[in-house]
Amino acid sequence: MATYLITGGNRGIGLTMATMLAARGESVVATARSVDALSPQARSLSGVRWVPLDVLDEGSIGALPGRLAAVGVSAIDVLVNNAGVSSTARSLAEVTAAELQRVFMVNAFAPILVAKALRGMIDAGSRRLIVNISSQLGSITNNDGGSSYPYRGSKTALNQMTVSLANELRPCGFTCVVAHPGWVRTDMGGQEAPLSVEQSATQLIALMDRLRPTDSGRFFNYDGAPMPW
Ligand SMILES: NC(=O)c1ccc[n+]([C@@H]2O[C@H](COP(=O)([O-])OP(=O)(O)OC[C@H]3O[C@@H](n4cnc5c(N)ncnc54)[C@H](OP(=O)(O)O)[C@@H]3O)[C@@H](O)[C@H]2O)c1
Repeated sequence: MATYLITGGNRGIGLTMATMLAARGESVVATARSVDALSPQARSLSGVRWVPLDVLDEGSIGALPGRLAAVGVSAIDVLVNNAGVSSTARSLAEVTAAELQRVFMVNAFAPILVAKALRGMIDAGSRRLIVNISSQLGSITNNDGGSSYPYRGSKTALNQMTVSLANELRPCGFTCVVAHPGWVRTDMGGQEAPLSVEQSATQLIALMDRLRPTDSGRFFNYDGAPMPW
């Protein structure tokens, strides 16, 4: 049994990963912006410990180790930085500094700040694995559509910072990767998406099970195939 911390567990891919990992007997801690206002599915989930985390709030990220300690967590084996937001600001005309800052804070800065806050707890774990959920839209190589400045840019920044994280923490035995979950039918992905949350989460979990230190610094598709930067 390993201890997983999943951010953004209230719905979507994060909720389904938490559900599946708890069902196979892992120790699962999930975060939600408000543990008093969980979605009905999250509230009905047994075997998952909930801690509050709003990644737009640096204070909330800083409080995370103490909140984890309060629910009895002293070591984390796998951190999954899953919380993310999309943006309706797509064209140059729509983009604003405030929107860029909001989306970059949630999608790019927070995963690194959460890793910083939890470094000691992850160090105390057995796998020292950090999986940052990115997107194919963060791939510069695959950007033939343009636009979506906040979302694309934030995921590209997350990819770059994850490679830095991998390089810095490799000597300490950490494995840090980015993974694209596929285009998934969630509030973010919409109902046109080809993958169900179950298909995505099943394959992401299988990927996490296979990851080894030699994979650190890589960008994976949900099925384990390499993604182009
Ligand atoms: N769905 C896709 O097709 C797709 C494709 C590529 C990448 N992704 C990535 O996959 C991850 C999960 O996406 P999803 O489709 O499951 O999205 P989703 O259904 O919209 O769920 C997003 C989750 O992130 C949480 N969140 C948003 N802002 C937050 C904040 N400020 N602090 C803490 N938590 C916050 C949400 O919490 P609340 O419930 O409280 O709002 C929710 O639990 C994201 O990183 C996304 O960028 C998704």
